[in-house]
Amino acid sequence: MNLDLTEDQVLIRDAVRELCRGEFGTQAAKWDRDDTIPPAAIAKLAEIGLLGMNVPEEWGGLGYDSRTVTMVIEEIARVSAALAIMVAVHNSVGAYPIYAFGTEEQRKRYLPRLTTGAVGAFALSEPGSGSDASALLTTAKHDGDHYVLDGEKNWVTNGRHVWTFLVLARTNGPGAKGISAFIVENNQQGLTIGKSEDKMGLRGSDTVTLAFDHARVPASQRLGPEGEGFKLALQSLDAGRIGVASQALGVMTAAFHEAARYAQQRKAWGGPIAKLQAIQFKLAEMERRVQCARLLIRKAAWLKDTGQDFIRAASMAKLYATEAATWVTHQAIQVHGGYGYVKEYAVERYYRDARVMEIYEGTSEIQRLVIARSLLADGVRL
Ligand code: CAA
Repeated sequence: MNLDLTEDQVLIRDAVRELCRGEFGTQAAKWDRDDTIPPAAIAKLAEIGLLGMNVPEEWGGLGYDSRTVTMVIEEIARVSAALAIMVAVHNSVGAYPIYAFGTEEQRKRYLPRLTTGAVGAFALSEPGSGSDASALLTTAKHDGDHYVLDGEKNWVTNGRHVWTFLVLARTNGPGAKGISAFIVENNQQGLTIGKSEDKMGLRGSDTVTLAFDHARVPASQRLGPEGEGFKLALQSLDAGRIGVASQALGVMTAAFHEAARYAQQRKAWGGPIAKLQAIQFKLAEMERRVQCARLLIRKAAWLKDTGQDFIRAASMAKLYATEAATWVTHQAIQVHGGYGYVKEYAVERYYRDARVMEIYEGTSEIQRLVIARSLLADGVRL
């Protein structure tokens, strides 16, 4: 496995870093306070192609490999985790599945806009089904050349900004094999986009509920064959999980830098607190976790890029990076003492932002389950 970045990747990383710090660096705290990310920020990312990162160039995207995508998400998350999840969800489970599983017509209809500014989203979870995703209740009844959708979805990232929702609904009976996927447009009759959740962190990233009441969706908007929706969703989430790991890496890297900077400025017992072993141990442990997360992410992305099975590696990267982000942001506040608990210091936001990463796109418990199942399937001796 080659862990070195190519010259192109370094150029891309530096360009995204410059853009994020220059354009968004001073605004991220305001987005958090106002619980709003302005459409102009998304438009700025679209301008440089970041809404079509993993879609091939022939379909209007940038055709980046996974390693490059993870770097971009990390850089955005170092400035705003809320903006990073919008981009990560849009790319991995909003736009890319339409390329990967779509018909020629679907690609033609959706990809040109989804790669240039329109936003996509993913609607799998429901009020009564989260981790046990295949227990979903939303139905899609075949009726002539339409499907009639009824039911509710929640925890849908990107809400008000969205043009296309990738919706999972039950077409043929119970269980995972009864689920199909649909592309639903925001102006669909019978679809109501609910209010945004008032979240602890990731404020500005819009999380909504969806209600379907006899929504007649053209059969041409079914993505993939009937009954294949659950697999398609989980395959998309496999890649999404590397993205969430990268988001966690960005936040914890930012928290580490803030803690290290503060530790060198703040004085106690006649010198900077960075001279105290109690603080040095924290900084060392933070950096260890940042580097371990980066290696697991690079490995998962490399496996994906080289066409190998990356499901277990993606879950390992997501599990490790998100738990590390919770720990690192917690310790970053500890280094700041009381100042870390007030909004004037960015570590307060990082801590709130990190918490959900152990929950969405599969909880830590689900990642452990995926890892264990995969180990056992490979015949690992206990
Ligand atoms: N990748 C690809 N396919 C997979 C898969 C994976 N990771 N895991 C399972 N499958 C396939 C299986 O092979 C099986 O197909 P076959 O029968 O043809 O072999 C099919 O999917 C059903 O698999 P299981 O019987 O294992 O299904 P299960 O009901 O036991 O569930 C699970 C497995 C791993 C627990 C799954 O339900 C899961 O990942 N749950 C978490 C869901 C999740 O991540 N939700 C987040 C929603 S998105 C979000 O957070 C909002 C947002 O906008 C960010």
